[in-house]
Amino acid sequence: MSRTPVLEVNNLSVGYETTKGLLEAVRKVDFSVYENEIVGLIGESGSGKSTLAYALMRLLKNGAKVTGGSVKVLGQDIYNMDPETLRKFRWSSISMVFQSAMNALNPVMTVEQQIIDTLRFHNPNISKKAAFEAACELFELVRIDPSRLKSYPHELSGGMRQRVVIAIAIALKPKFVIMDEPTTALDVVVQKSILDQIMELKEQLGFSILFISHDFSLVSEIADRVAVMYSGRLVEVADSDTLSTPEGHHPYTEGLIHAIPRLTDKHTKLRGIPGNPPALDKIPSGCAFHPRCKYAEAACFTEAPPIVKTEHHSIVECHLHAKVGGARV
Ligand SMILES: Nc1ncnc2c1ncn2[C@@H]1O[C@H](COP(=O)(O)OP(=O)(O)OP(=O)(O)O)[C@@H](O)[C@H]1O
Ligand SMILES: [Mg+2]
Repeated sequence: MSRTPVLEVNNLSVGYETTKGLLEAVRKVDFSVYENEIVGLIGESGSGKSTLAYALMRLLKNGAKVTGGSVKVLGQDIYNMDPETLRKFRWSSISMVFQSAMNALNPVMTVEQQIIDTLRFHNPNISKKAAFEAACELFELVRIDPSRLKSYPHELSGGMRQRVVIAIAIALKPKFVIMDEPTTALDVVVQKSILDQIMELKEQLGFSILFISHDFSLVSEIADRVAVMYSGRLVEVADSDTLSTPEGHHPYTEGLIHAIPRLTDKHTKLRGIPGNPPALDKIPSGCAFHPRCKYAEAACFTEAPPIVKTEHHSIVECHLHAKVGGARV
């Protein structure tokens, strides 16, 4: 069955201008997200997840720039769009829930004004009544009583503010939504209810999601596929149901799986991954993960690893996998 991609990322690199020169935080990344799919993007802090997300929105901040590759959303190259087309396209075709966004709502505007501003930005002729009705409908969608529309952000709980941010992201019914750590700042009960709701909204409105998180077990639960980022590279893309066992994965993914506490394994000691990810100006030669990899061999120190397709249908960037007979892609 052929699937329609909503996002196609090809060989994308993103760098930051620093006092040490241009340092790449995203390095030649390739992946796609298909219609109605949730792809989880995981990786330790600093691995480049948010930088990638901003690049997908063409919203990189000052000092950051795309140094190679392309991004297509719904078949359109967003780096070849003129500013006016891009302005219309963003939020109505691709939108984003920013990391820590619930704390970025404007504190001196009611949430109603903030939602209506988003609607107006794209449809300046919308009547006051239609905008208000649309705002009420959005609040109902994210399960907040529309009477709370008149509230200022500080009058709402963290969970409610996060729902408002999600309501703003889906206000223009985009086909693709990036969610950067949408539940990280919330307690587990609120986190669960917001996740359930994201899944419901996705079914109802039919959008695809790139769900960014450090929480491996949470991502493997909600995503169809998982992309694992290490030091700016996507080292593995796998179906999430392969993640219940550590075998067959990139050694970094294997380490992440071993680090998940399991209720059933009372006697198994959790194993973390030794060491820390490298700084952007000190990315090791060969495979960037080799200093932390218990399987590292001579080639891993000097040669960039090949990308391999394993029997688990994942893309794994690892010398070891190439050696044991995975097909190179
Ligand atoms: N403005 C900047 N200038 C220079 N380097 C930056 C800048 N912003 C981010 N970086 C670096 O880029 C790398 C990737 O950062 P990014 O925020 O994308 O990581 P992340 O995976 O989203 O981390 P987290 O999980 O903590 O949100 C890090 O090494 C970070 O220090
Ligand atoms: Mg981030």
